[in-house]
Amino acid sequence: MPNLRFAAPKERRAAIVTGGARGLGRAIAIRLAEEGRDVLIADVLEDQGRQTAKEIVALGQRAIFAFTDVTVESEVQDAVDTAMTAFKRIDILACAAGVLGLEAPFHEQSAQQFNRVLAINLNGVYHAHQAAIPHMRSGGWGRCVTITSGARNGAPNQVPYAVSKGAVFSLIKSLGNAYSKEGVFVNGIEPGRVLTDMVVPRFSPEHIADPGNPLGRYSDPEEVAEVAELLLSERNTYTTGSVWSVKGATG
Ligand SMILES: NC(=O)c1ccc[n+]([C@@H]2O[C@H](COP(=O)([O-])OP(=O)(O)OC[C@H]3O[C@@H](n4cnc5c(N)ncnc54)[C@H](O)[C@@H]3O)[C@@H](O)[C@H]2O)c1
Repeated sequence: MPNLRFAAPKERRAAIVTGGARGLGRAIAIRLAEEGRDVLIADVLEDQGRQTAKEIVALGQRAIFAFTDVTVESEVQDAVDTAMTAFKRIDILACAAGVLGLEAPFHEQSAQQFNRVLAINLNGVYHAHQAAIPHMRSGGWGRCVTITSGARNGAPNQVPYAVSKGAVFSLIKSLGNAYSKEGVFVNGIEPGRVLTDMVVPRFSPEHIADPGNPLGRYSDPEEVAEVAELLLSERNTYTTGSVWSVKGATG
């Protein structure tokens, strides 16, 4: 086995997962716990967040649920402070908190709707990286992954969502180069269609019937979590500033 730079020996590292109460965030939080990480779940869904935390404890790890609205910088900072107090370290950040917002033609969207989607999907990611990265720099190692979306390439009926994901793509590209020399890597994942609570109630029967990829099926949240776990691990020694497609298709 070559001596890979930044392949720090696996330790009991600590993670923060925004949006970890359910869906992709929950799957990532559990996958991280399976690898021996302690996890703080930052979410606005208290019952489900506590449930995820319980599942993590059942895996033998420490877990905290912190009620956190990611749009509020001070709440994100409080969550990071709570994790530092409990775990004495923060090495891993997964940002899965997000909303789809109103699906409607652009002329039916409002500035209020736009601001709300941007506040969660973009500002929330920004706040989380700002609060967590200083601790990773202090520790000389850090891994961050945010869930973006192929909608960043353009989605006429989801303009606020598409813009938020495009901006997050740019954030990942920018931060991916910012701290890599210090051992802090920042990446993203673009899932395809995952039948989570975010999309199922909103999808038309046509959407539900068509997984929209050559594989011919939707992905499970765990399939996205598997890739996230790799990017967030010591096994990721040379990938930063990238957005991985987990879409069951090329592109
Ligand atoms: N499901 C898909 O097909 C799909 C595809 C591409 C991208 N994504 C992205 O993946 C991420 C996770 O989505 P999901 O499908 O698991 O949806 P989900 O609705 O199941 O989970 C989203 C989580 O974010 C939390 N959240 C929402 N607003 C918040 C806020 N202000 N503060 C803190 N937490 C908040 C919710 O409570 C929830 O737990 C989102 O960013 C989404 O855009 C999902």
